[in-house]
Amino acid sequence: MDFGQYKYEFELISSDLTDFEEKIARLEQIRYIEDPKRFFTETAYQKRVDGNLTYYSLFSRIKSNHFNRGSGYLTHGFGFYRGSFHGQMIRGLINCCNLKQDSTILDPFCGSGTTLVEASLLGFSSIGIDINPIACLNSKVKTDLLDYNINHLTKDNNKYFNLSFFDDYIDNLTDFKKNIIGDVKDLFYLFIFLRALSTEFRFSVDRETNFKRIYKRYVNTLKLYNDFKKKNDILLGKSSIFFSDCLMELKKIRTDSIDTIITSPPYIDMIDYIQEDLIPIKHLFKKKEIEFLKAKSIGNKFKNLLITERLYWKRINIFLQESFRILKPDKYLIIIINNYKNMKETYEKLIFTNNFYIEMILKREVINVKKKDNKEFVYFLKAKK
Ligand SMILES: C[S@@+](CC[C@H](N)C(=O)[O-])C[C@H]1O[C@@H](n2cnc3c(N)ncnc32)[C@H](O)[C@@H]1O
Repeated sequence: MDFGQYKYEFELISSDLTDFEEKIARLEQIRYIEDPKRFFTETAYQKRVDGNLTYYSLFSRIKSNHFNRGSGYLTHGFGFYRGSFHGQMIRGLINCCNLKQDSTILDPFCGSGTTLVEASLLGFSSIGIDINPIACLNSKVKTDLLDYNINHLTKDNNKYFNLSFFDDYIDNLTDFKKNIIGDVKDLFYLFIFLRALSTEFRFSVDRETNFKRIYKRYVNTLKLYNDFKKKNDILLGKSSIFFSDCLMELKKIRTDSIDTIITSPPYIDMIDYIQEDLIPIKHLFKKKEIEFLKAKSIGNKFKNLLITERLYWKRINIFLQESFRILKPDKYLIIIINNYKNMKETYEKLIFTNNFYIEMILKREVINVKKKDNKEFVYFLKAKK
C-alpha cells in the first residue's frame, strides 16, 4: 500500500513487550491505516510514529502511582482498586476496534473507570455502570478531572483541609448517592477524604496526614497533565457514570446504540467489592442500603456455593442478552476473564446461546502476581445480527 508522505516508521515503547502486547501492538495499527496523521496520539505500544513522540509515551511519564508498567499513569493511579485493568492494554484494545469519532464505549462493570479514562483520552463518549458507589466516585473524579482547570481545583480550597467539613457535606449528599452528581471540585476532595479514611484504618496513619499526602500526589499529577494539555492538542470525550445494578441500567439503553463494550465482570465468590470499600461506604450509607448493594453485587456469596453459582450464571446471561441487544451490528463486545473455577467453559456456552461469535481470543499472562497459572483471556465477540 502507498502511504504517500507517511513513512510507516514505528519505534516500540519497550523492547521487552510480552507476546500479548506484541499482538495488540500489531492489531492496533489498523488505526494508522485509517488515519496515519493521528496514530501517534492514539497508539498504546509505540514510542514514536513517523518520528513523532507518542501521547502514550508522554502520559506514561506522568505517574500518579507506582503500579506495574502499563498502569498508574495520569488519573489511573487515583485510588487502588482490586481487579482493575491496565490503562495501556485498554487503550490498545480500543484502538483495535477502529472506532469512528462519534462512537460510544460502554463498561457495565466499570469499577475504577479504566475503560472510561482511556475512552475519554481517545476522544470517545463513554458510559460506565457500577454497583459500588466508591468505584463510581473514583470513575467520576478520574474522568471529569481530565477536562478540568487545575487552578480552579487548588484555589480557595482551605475549607476542605479541615476534615470536619465533610460531616455536613456528607449529610447533604442525596443527589450524589442517587446519581453520582455533584460539583467535581467537591467530589475530588470527598474522594481524597474517603481514601484517607481507608488508609488510616489499613496503615494506622492518621487521616489528616493521609489527606495531605494524597492531595499532594494527585495535584502533582494533574499539574503535569495540565502542562501536557497546554502544549498538545487533545480532544477529550465525555463520560457518564451510573451508580446502579447494571442488569437494570442496561435495560434503559437503546437497542443498537453502543459501538463497543469493553468489560471484565466480577468472578464467582472471589472479591466482595462492597466489603473491600466498607469503611468509606459506611460513611455514606446506612446498614440496610449496604445490604442491598451486597445483594445486587454479581458473584457475591448467597446461601451456599451451588446457589451462588446458579445466580451468577443467571445474571451473566442477562448481561450477555442485553449486550447483544444494545450493540450495533458488527461491533465488538470485549470481555476479559480468567479461568477461575473453570468459568471459561460456561462463559463460552452462554456466548453462543446469546448469538455472539468469537472472532478471536488472546491470552495474557498476568505479570507480577505470585499465583501460579495466572492467565487472562481477552474475548473479541461480535453479535450475529
Ligand atoms: C473486575 S471489577 C471491574 C474492574 C474495572 N475493570 C477496573 O478497571 O477497575 C468488577 C466490577 O463489577 C462490579 N459489579 C458487581 N456487580 C455489579 C452489578 N450488578 N452491576 C454493576 N456492577 C457490578 C463490582 O463492583 C466491580 O467494580
